[in-house]
Amino acid sequence: MERETFGSKIGAVLAAAGSAVGLGNIWRFPIETGQNGGAAFIIIYIVCIVLLGLPIMISEFLIGRHTHANTAGAYRIVSNGSPWKWVGRLGVFTGWFIMCYYVVVGGWTMHYTFFSATNGFAGVEASGYERVFGEFVSNPWLPAAWTILFVLIIHFVIMRGVKSGIEKSAKILMPALFIITLFLVICSVMLPGASQGISFLLKPDFSKVTSTTVLEAMGQAFYSLSLAMGCLCTYASYFDENTPLGKSAVNVAAIDSAIAIMAGFIIFPSLFNIGMNPNEVEAGAGLTFVSLPNVFQQALGNGSILSVVFSSLFYFLLFMAALTSAISLHEVATAYVTEEFNLSRKKGATLVTGTVLVLSALCALSFGPLSDLKLFDLNLFNLFDTLSGRFLLPIGGMLISIFAGWVLDRQLYKSEISNYGKLRVPYFRVLVFALRYIAPIAVASLFLDQLGVFDFLKK
Ligand code: PHE
Repeated sequence: MERETFGSKIGAVLAAAGSAVGLGNIWRFPIETGQNGGAAFIIIYIVCIVLLGLPIMISEFLIGRHTHANTAGAYRIVSNGSPWKWVGRLGVFTGWFIMCYYVVVGGWTMHYTFFSATNGFAGVEASGYERVFGEFVSNPWLPAAWTILFVLIIHFVIMRGVKSGIEKSAKILMPALFIITLFLVICSVMLPGASQGISFLLKPDFSKVTSTTVLEAMGQAFYSLSLAMGCLCTYASYFDENTPLGKSAVNVAAIDSAIAIMAGFIIFPSLFNIGMNPNEVEAGAGLTFVSLPNVFQQALGNGSILSVVFSSLFYFLLFMAALTSAISLHEVATAYVTEEFNLSRKKGATLVTGTVLVLSALCALSFGPLSDLKLFDLNLFNLFDTLSGRFLLPIGGMLISIFAGWVLDRQLYKSEISNYGKLRVPYFRVLVFALRYIAPIAVASLFLDQLGVFDFLKK
């Protein structure tokens, strides 16, 4: 069967950037930055991207492009049948797993877009947003219905194939995402008191930097670049031989970091405008679905047309970011089942969608009717999140860097990264050094840290 490739270099970069730019950029990065020393955190984050993120991303690109196969097949080929082939399978499994709860949040973003656009927040008092969110997620069917709709949209894109589905959607969604982000930044920085928010975000405060800060920056860089879950390897398997791997990786990382920093310019000015203390806000769902709707309503006028436009665009932005990431997760699993089990794309995608529909609907209901279904004291949603983020991702990342740095044939590496001798790669030695020593040690320490957190959760 003829394997598809992306139609253009820009399409390839936009698709990979679509995977990278996701919820993590908007609901985690800005708050982590604000609370961990502003520009000091950004500097550490960028160092992590360069020393840890880029080497692993380039390796994933390289393995995918070299083999032109799904992630499990790709590692089987480059490992020559040794047990390293399990790294690929682990990536597929991780991606599949993450998808099951990621799409639930995708569903939430759709509900909140709709709710904002129909002025549902009008008249909600400042303390009422927690109740609004609580009522929504514990509803016996609504979160599952939105999740199902979100999964069906992904299914539609995946069914259209690599070029007319994934690439085309990225070419529309990514520029739209950028324009909306820019628009929201401009609105937000014009609010009274915005400058305080900007300086809170950007003022470097090295006194707040501790080893935890560095670990957080590392974890965020890793998650944000969609490493170790097969996404980049799978997308790169659709790159053609002229796609420059190093340059594409740098572009993806730059787009990803730019959107994350811009998200800070949306969030902090509005927080400061209403005098909310950013240190009291917790990153994640609480920020996105409880604090921010309140902040937007107060800053722009409760029920005003401005707040309707601003909040619906904000949630639509989140929706698009989540969608392009979820598409990349779905493709990891679809490529895997179609190629490994010799199915048509239609059958493969349907099979994946079926499993995701069931598991994600269960996750979606895990704050409501299924809230008693618990393992290690975690409901299904949190269990999926914890297992993948704290365990599967760091283990996968560590194995990929060890494999790429120590096991993978050096000649093969050099030939792929130079596009078979056509490009100069002056940074090759630095890259190998980072892969061999820096990345494995860094990811291992991240993992150990996560283990500690897990002990704490078990108590
Ligand atoms: N990189 C995405 C983000 O920042 C997260 C993601 C995880 C994307 C898994 C794809 C796969 O939110």
